Amino acid sequence: MGNGKCMSLLTLVGMVMVMLHKVASQDYGDALSKCILFFEGQRSGKLPSNQRMIWRNDSALSDGSDVGMDLSGGYYDAGDNVKFNFPMAFSTTMLAWSVLEFGQYMGSDQQNALDSIRWAADYLLKSTDVPGKVTAAVGNPKADHNCWERPEDMDTPRTSYVVNQTHPGSEVSAETAAALAASSLVFNSADPAYSKALIDRAEEVFDFADKFRGNYKDSVGEGVCPFYCDSSGYLDELVWAAAWLFKVTNEQKYWGFVQDNIAHLPKPAADSFAEFGWDAKNAGINVLVSGWVMNTTTSDPYVPQANKFVCSVLPESPDKSVTYSAGGLLFKPGGSNTQHATALSFLLLVYAQYLKNHSGTISCGTFDATPSRLEQVAKGQVDYILGNNPMGMSYMVGFSQKFPQRIHHRASSLPSVGDHPEHIQCKDGTPYFQSNNPNPNVLTGAIVGGPDMNDQFPDDRSNAPESEPTTYINAPFVGILAYFKAFPKLRTSI
Ligand SMILES: *[C@@H]1O[C@H](CO)[C@@H](O)[C@H](O)[C@H]1NC(C)=O
Ligand SMILES: *[C@@H]1O[C@H](CO)[C@@H](O)[C@H](O)[C@H]1NC(C)=O
Ligand SMILES: *[C@@H]1O[C@H](CO)[C@@H](O)[C@H](O)[C@H]1NC(C)=O
Ligand SMILES: *[C@@H]1O[C@H](CO)[C@@H](O)[C@H](O)[C@H]1NC(C)=O
Repeated sequence: MGNGKCMSLLTLVGMVMVMLHKVASQDYGDALSKCILFFEGQRSGKLPSNQRMIWRNDSALSDGSDVGMDLSGGYYDAGDNVKFNFPMAFSTTMLAWSVLEFGQYMGSDQQNALDSIRWAADYLLKSTDVPGKVTAAVGNPKADHNCWERPEDMDTPRTSYVVNQTHPGSEVSAETAAALAASSLVFNSADPAYSKALIDRAEEVFDFADKFRGNYKDSVGEGVCPFYCDSSGYLDELVWAAAWLFKVTNEQKYWGFVQDNIAHLPKPAADSFAEFGWDAKNAGINVLVSGWVMNTTTSDPYVPQANKFVCSVLPESPDKSVTYSAGGLLFKPGGSNTQHATALSFLLLVYAQYLKNHSGTISCGTFDATPSRLEQVAKGQVDYILGNNPMGMSYMVGFSQKFPQRIHHRASSLPSVGDHPEHIQCKDGTPYFQSNNPNPNVLTGAIVGGPDMNDQFPDDRSNAPESEPTTYINAPFVGILAYFKAFPKLRTSI
């Protein structure tokens, strides 16, 4: 029987160790540094001398030459080599919002975050340099996706897709205006001249987006669909941009635009609160605007709708319209699932700060949600992504001991130019794509689409929905990590 006693003692020790492991904090500061560094791996154009992701090299230097513009620079959106301006602009807005809310907690990484924003903002300025035109994408996406090729070798058509007055694109234009406006606020004190240039351009571009209305798929369809078609309409982007412009300029015309249009977002987007991403802005608008209308007479409809967002996301909520895996990761249908976990967690965390400022709590029918509960749920998602999950795997590349080795990313999976200077043709990259070897270049900080609903992750390069990183998965995570770097002690619970 002594044996049994011994076993139970061991079991007890084991359980205590598991519990300690469960509440152990991740190194959020390290994750933050890496989360920002990822953007250097996505850079297009001429790389600067302080480039830290050194296995990358200059690429796509002649982008825009087909339309007589300089469109070099910006970010490749994911594991391909196309520059899709719509999600790129959204990622920029989210990087800027991350710095505006949580930049004070970033320490020495704040400068790196500013650099990541400026890299995009410079490109968005080029994309809107000709009045009445906004670049929607650069690079023929079908030709690009047909190849497994390094950005440094690209020889597929670098077609520029540009919307204009007769062929408009209000979603891409308005999101660009939002990104420029939010970035302007970030550089307000660090670089006033740059900040002024950004806000002037943001106002011009918003005006164009509003006056010449249309969906960009009807203007430059083959350049953006089926990859980034806008299914929620463009009015949410217009309201979102107007809200950012009001926050920056305090001009009544922008507030009037928000007020006049918030009730007219088309369905189903108008009824969908558990959604926030490059296509759907409703929840983001309501949280953003709540930041200045909470506890005022104009808090309706923004605060009630932001509350609705919260009640549609919290795991214990009767009105929940997302699912959680057994291991605790938030799920929505479609690929690149972690984009939902990071973007919705960002909104929860930001809204929690606004609520705390007003001693507010939320009623979700059967229970009340406190700001600290919102933070707990966000932290649960962060900890899951960083490795507190059934696979024991960090879904951020280069973070902790176990992370994805075969990410769906051309530059990461092909040898670098330094290691293999010879050109690798379109189809000559296929063996590298099919290889079972780990990627030779570590795309540090990249967060992949993540595991399936059963918390399983095969680490398979050909499974793009799970193994591909994107800029809009990482961008909101930058702000969240800064907050938990400063406040790591919050108890995790899902
Ligand atoms: C570009 O590649 C060359 C080797 O071909 C290397 O010497 C150089 O450092 C690279 N540049 C950057 C910015 O990584
Ligand atoms: C407007 O954009 C469309 C679609 O990109 C293009 O075909 C057309 O030539 C452009 N018009 C002008 C005046 O630039
Ligand atoms: C909280 O309120 C103060 C005073 O109005 C304001 O300066 C601060 O920015 C607010 N913080 C947040 C997170 O809203
Ligand atoms: C905001 O309203 C809540 C009740 O809804 C109240 O408890 C809180 O004190 C108010 N905060 C401020 C800053 O007015």
